[in-house]
Amino acid sequence: MTEVVHTPRVFSGIQPSGGLTLGNYLGALKRFVEMQNSGIETLYCMVDLHAITVWQNPDDLRHATRELAAGFIASGLDPQKSILFNQSQVSAHAELAWVFNCVARMGWLNRMTQFKDKAGKNRENASVGLFSYPNLMASDILIYKATQVPVGDDQKQHLELTRDIAAKFNNDFGVDHFPITEPKIEGAATRVMSLRDGAKKMSKSDPSDASRINMTDDAETIAKKIRKAKTDPDGLPSEIEGLTDRAEAKNLVNIYAALADMSVEQVLAECGGKQFSEFKPMLSDLAVAKLSPISGEMARLMEDTSEIDRILGDGARKANAIAQPILEETYDIVGLIRSK
Ligand code: AMP
Ligand code: TRP
Repeated sequence: MTEVVHTPRVFSGIQPSGGLTLGNYLGALKRFVEMQNSGIETLYCMVDLHAITVWQNPDDLRHATRELAAGFIASGLDPQKSILFNQSQVSAHAELAWVFNCVARMGWLNRMTQFKDKAGKNRENASVGLFSYPNLMASDILIYKATQVPVGDDQKQHLELTRDIAAKFNNDFGVDHFPITEPKIEGAATRVMSLRDGAKKMSKSDPSDASRINMTDDAETIAKKIRKAKTDPDGLPSEIEGLTDRAEAKNLVNIYAALADMSVEQVLAECGGKQFSEFKPMLSDLAVAKLSPISGEMARLMEDTSEIDRILGDGARKANAIAQPILEETYDIVGLIRSK
């Protein structure tokens, strides 16, 4: 087998299953922008086919997809530099996912913790799509032979599965077709926690709105949520060890560090000794300063959704031009006839 050197290419996706949160911004979007600006080829996708693995109201789904696109652009993704599109407009994602349904093993998917969390107690009633979700995610990445995938910490297991699928496909067919993708899980906020419970991830699907900061929250709401965020009675330590077993305190420091582009050590060197009554207003001022230009720009972009749809269509055409030849090559490897 010849060793293929795969060209660096970045792919990532976010589900339009609700509004963007600060967790999405710090864990994913901010990193997407950094990678775009580093000059590598980047593709970023609104994964609408993933969103429908749990029922979505069709009008809400359309709105959330456009708002997510607005959030991408407002955060600094430039449709001239990155390929921005919604997944369902590039049919190769779903087609390659079928091939991967035939490569991945039941046992692998049975181990996926996100499925267990999302399906909850009533697993018999979960959609088949929710179960095979990681195969579609592997397809999103490998249909572009993407080599790097920036995500938050919760996606680690899915990316390991993507690597397993690529390796099994290559091995089953004796080829070096798909790259073994590198996860990029980096920065001070790879896992932003709920503001109400330091043991739970901040999530767009948490029933409590006070648990998260939404990218569309106004300054007053952000300040109120941070003021009410759960903490312990102690002040900030000056060393990182002083945050051990203090999940809520640690979370607020991590958020501050990520927003300010500082390390946690730097934040503690500056703020060690302060009480939360002093640190929380600093954090909310910083959050408002960083987030309100983004939410303002999102609102402006949402005034003209036809322009957003145009950008998504344009991105889908570019994405399709990369994906289609890789799909054809894959079908050929598998032995599926393509009439010219
Ligand atoms: P999702 O909203 O589940 O589609 O997630 C989109 C991206 O945001 C993925 O890369 C997630 O890992 C990341 N993400 C979601 N929630 C958080 C969080 N609380 N902290 C850090 N990253 C997150
Ligand atoms: N599963 C990811 C999430 O819930 C979203 C996603 C779908 C994704 N396809 C992807 C992320 C491909 C990175 C690459 O957050």
